[in-house]
Amino acid sequence: MSTLSPSSDPSGAPTVLVTGGAGFIGSHTCVELLAHGYRVVVVDDHSNSSPEALLRIEKTAGRPLHAVHILDMRDAEALAEVFRAHPIDAVVHFAAKKAVGESVQIPLDYYEVNVGATVSLLRVMREHGVERLVFSSSCSIYGDARPVPLDENEPARPTNPYARSKWMCEQVLADTCRAWPELSALALRYFNPVGAHPSGLLGEDPRGVPNNVMPFAMQVAVGRRELLNVFGGDYPTEDGTAVRDYIHVVDVADGHRVALEQLGIRPEADGEPGAATTGLRVLNLGTGVGTSVLELVAAVGRACGQPIPHAIVGRREGDVTRLVADPGAVAAAWGWRTTRTLDDMCADAWRFQQANPMGYGA
Ligand SMILES: NC(=O)c1ccc[n+]([C@@H]2O[C@H](COP(=O)([O-])OP(=O)(O)OC[C@H]3O[C@@H](n4cnc5c(N)ncnc54)[C@H](O)[C@@H]3O)[C@@H](O)[C@H]2O)c1
Repeated sequence: MSTLSPSSDPSGAPTVLVTGGAGFIGSHTCVELLAHGYRVVVVDDHSNSSPEALLRIEKTAGRPLHAVHILDMRDAEALAEVFRAHPIDAVVHFAAKKAVGESVQIPLDYYEVNVGATVSLLRVMREHGVERLVFSSSCSIYGDARPVPLDENEPARPTNPYARSKWMCEQVLADTCRAWPELSALALRYFNPVGAHPSGLLGEDPRGVPNNVMPFAMQVAVGRRELLNVFGGDYPTEDGTAVRDYIHVVDVADGHRVALEQLGIRPEADGEPGAATTGLRVLNLGTGVGTSVLELVAAVGRACGQPIPHAIVGRREGDVTRLVADPGAVAAAWGWRTTRTLDDMCADAWRFQQANPMGYGA
């Protein structure tokens, strides 16, 4: 257990730094935190997001962000300035590069941003006595050819630089926790976040050609693209397409709010961070339900009221057969589980896409 000095925020609400807060999962998490009374400071360089997302966060939550800093996480001095400017109680670290295929082409960028910036962040946190961290990890570190569902004890076998960068970060966190006994860190291994906020205001708006099946399918549904390529029809699965554990992004966001509570960062706690178990804890965030790509395409079609034109093409390098979470550990530890279905994910994503056919750029 550790004790921290009280937050200097006179309102008593804890201040949470959300890195990558304008991105897909970060923006939904900001809404969740604002709605529950946290003060939220965002850092983002908009390398994969739009400033419009920040306006949408405030509109959706009905409350302002406390501050926004447009900076590259690799700029350690600029990051330190953010910690000097605000009494930060905890950090939720989303900012990263996340495209598997691109990571094979430009691995050094992935190690520099994903690993290097995490190291800088930990240094700055230590200098400022900030001892609570939630880190975005990924199911991709499990790799392929495993029995499912996957629990956290499965050894990591990452198959590409992106996944390896996340696995390296987990090891950096474990080593840092050993050397800095007051640090409380949670690495959440998300499975496949999809969907959108039910308001239709906030959703997934990747820059360029979407790398993931859901945003691509949505752009086909809305007429921005003609055809969805389904990569691989010869996997050893029921219908030959890869199986994933899709999780609603609002469930992921809710998981982060609960993670902060578990770290002793609660809005009703008068600004005094509560006790939290120190060290690193690794937990899956998934539903435990496997869905094939073709089942997902059918569900998207149901939500949109029209079939999604698609073609099965060759496998994509780096993709694996089946990734489904065992969500038992987080349920046992926090009493938390997902509540939203695949049809909710598709209906909410479609509502956002219809209201924003060109994403935030319209
Ligand atoms: N979406 C998924 O399927 C998925 C699955 C598992 C894990 N994750 C992890 O979750 C986190 C968030 O993912 P997302 O889907 O919201 O991605 P995203 O790309 O939508 O969001 C990431 C945000 O970080 C920002 N960013 C990137 N590099 C930065 C830098 N150097 N400095 C400052 N800001 C920077 C981007 O502009 C973007 O707003 C990432 O760490 C990702 O690896 C995502």
